[in-house]
Amino acid sequence: MREVAVIGVGMNRWGELWKMSHRRIWTEAALEAIEDAGVDHVDAMYVGCMSGGLFVGQEHLGALLADQLGMGPIPGTRVESACASGGLALRQAWIAVASGVHDIVLASGVEKMTDVDGGAATYALSTAADQEYECYHGITFPGLYAMMARRHMEQYGTTRRQMALVAEKNHRHGALNDRAQFQHEITADQVLGSAMVADPLRLLDCSPITDGAAAAVLAPVELARRITDKPLVRIAASAHATDSIALHDRDELCRITSTERAAEQAYRQAGIGPDKLSFCEVHDCFTIAEIMITEALGLVDRGRGGAFVEAGETALDGRIPVNPSGGLKAKGHPVGATGVAQVREVVLQLRGEAGRRQVKDAHWALTQNMGGTGASSVVHIFERI
Ligand code: COA
Repeated sequence: MREVAVIGVGMNRWGELWKMSHRRIWTEAALEAIEDAGVDHVDAMYVGCMSGGLFVGQEHLGALLADQLGMGPIPGTRVESACASGGLALRQAWIAVASGVHDIVLASGVEKMTDVDGGAATYALSTAADQEYECYHGITFPGLYAMMARRHMEQYGTTRRQMALVAEKNHRHGALNDRAQFQHEITADQVLGSAMVADPLRLLDCSPITDGAAAAVLAPVELARRITDKPLVRIAASAHATDSIALHDRDELCRITSTERAAEQAYRQAGIGPDKLSFCEVHDCFTIAEIMITEALGLVDRGRGGAFVEAGETALDGRIPVNPSGGLKAKGHPVGATGVAQVREVVLQLRGEAGRRQVKDAHWALTQNMGGTGASSVVHIFERI
């Protein structure tokens, strides 16, 4: 296996991009990454997209976007694993470069979600849950995560305010990110007073519906050293795990086992433990998700994730900053793009280019991207070399 580096990253200003087509959103991010990498071609490309069909009526994205890129008849592959599609696209690109099949590979993700109304978007998202055993009974993702939140509150004493503090923190970070959908701060009291979506989760506990894309260029470390003189970011580990898709089939409702398994493998590959990490970008699709993920990654003991955020440990100036980009909550969550945008944040941070949200002395970073209620999880670890 070859050592692989991320040598270029790109993303749009995320939000409701009504004036841009699906393919244009993707192209803007892809070209930014290619320019940042300083290359004039890519040998192959992967695109993570959850549901081009239901959101914009477009499938066959591997070929469509390879054609759009105009870099010859390169292999273009679409990757789907619900909200983890982007993280999995990165993993496929890493496998292609590490194995020696391709040298310069574009990993990307895109979703244009706001062309359909809220009901249709909720339906499209719910196709990532178990249709027969969950959705046909009327449950949607806010409802599923609401059950996980209730269970966490019951089992560990996690409070409503602790969840609200996740949103407050991530909006504070997002206000420092000029590509985030929401660049304003909110308070925990505003979260607690926002409209109820699925008890106990309120509007400001939820990630939004977003249009956007992100991209990253990967190359073998040896080649990367000849291509760019920017600090190199090495992919130290790439791991992927799955779990039962239906929540009711799990032994425990408020535990993300697929993330635990992927993280365990990733720490082993990288040869480090969570104590070495400078920061993490994680999948806070709902505030309770970030709390459960900090536990699954071993940043804090099981059941203590709420107290961890309350103590300020996960803030930008805390012991282990979580979601310095603003996370899904403030940066936005165009589902197929999220996992790749996490990598953009890692690369900016590890190069020391994150501006006002720079994590001090960042050296090791972890990304965690998941599909559904954790039926799939992808974890990557990165090192500045
Ligand atoms: N956070 C902050 N503000 C939000 C928001 C969010 N998650 N969602 C919407 N808003 C804002 C909008 O910008 C809008 O503000 P404006 O009036 O100033 O323009 C206002 O709230 C109303 O927006 P609207 O689009 O009408 O909201 P909605 O009620 O249709 O949708 C949710 C709100 C929470 C239901 C929707 O964002 C949602 O479904 N989120 C979860 C997405 C999801 O499940 N992703 C997959 C995870 S596994």
